[in-house]
Amino acid sequence: MPYFKYKGILFTTEFCLEETLSYVENDFQLLDDDIVNVTYPKSGTHWMAEVLSLILSHGDPSWVQNVPLWERAPWIEIADQLQMALENPPPRLLSTHLPFQLFPKSFLHSKAKVVYTLRNPRDVMVSSYHFFKGFKELKDPGTVEEFMESFLSGEVVYGSWFDHVKGWVEMKERANIFFITYEELQQDLRGSVQKICHFLGKELNSQQIESVVENASFQKMKDNKMSNFSLIPESVFDHTKAKFMRKGISGDWKNLLTVAQSERFDDAYQESMRGVNMTFPWERITGRSSCCSPPSHSYV
Ligand code: A3P
Repeated sequence: MPYFKYKGILFTTEFCLEETLSYVENDFQLLDDDIVNVTYPKSGTHWMAEVLSLILSHGDPSWVQNVPLWERAPWIEIADQLQMALENPPPRLLSTHLPFQLFPKSFLHSKAKVVYTLRNPRDVMVSSYHFFKGFKELKDPGTVEEFMESFLSGEVVYGSWFDHVKGWVEMKERANIFFITYEELQQDLRGSVQKICHFLGKELNSQQIESVVENASFQKMKDNKMSNFSLIPESVFDHTKAKFMRKGISGDWKNLLTVAQSERFDDAYQESMRGVNMTFPWERITGRSSCCSPPSHSYV
């Protein structure tokens, strides 16, 4: 079986082991100067890892041009990348898709900084739908309808988007968590980089900020083999069936979902996000909250 469940959440046997997940949750020690890039899959993880790598190197692109992204910002729940995380010198840049309940417990007593990036869940679903077709060992996502039902019920890798977001949003009062959206990165990457620098306590001059923005653009990342997934071997990922740097836009769900499917998604969204004390760029200010609205207001 290519999948297993750990504490009710689906993982792939190709990348994760139960022992690693248990170690990460209970024993992994976050250090005060760690920076953790947290996302639900397909929400802009690699983009944020690139932005953070460039900020840490003061805009100098040599690191992102010469070291694979997963070595710069290893995923702690993936066994061989956890080893890199343990060996990398501080200040460490770490990545994870773990829901809060499986995140290292050591976080509660540390000053490690978390940057949590979210994206319109419809675009997350559509991006996942295309991406999963590339993984040779994983189940084919099936029809859009079938995949959407799995996504909405949380029967997908890393579990429910709704639960993931709700679990992390509950931590929003902590000073060491910063929330940002893929949509905000797209609308104003320079302003977003400045906010992230402020959160991290990193002073970059305008030339350095400019270099972060330039080198984290979709085109630069698409051309950078250290960041564009092309180093992933054909035995794992069929590059003819799926592209990692696919479109890099917001609203691509409109090209895939029918009106009925988008209404079904909207209803599930409203039901699941009821009571969440944060608003997001894809919701309307008043009336029925919808994932299909254009960005209208700040989510903080
Ligand atoms: P699409 O499939 O919609 O194109 P993750 O890194 O969490 O797996 O997310 C992957 C998504 O982020 C893909 O979305 C990819 O194209 C997009 N992406 C990666 N780098 C980006 C960038 N620099 N600018 C905009 N989108 C980017």
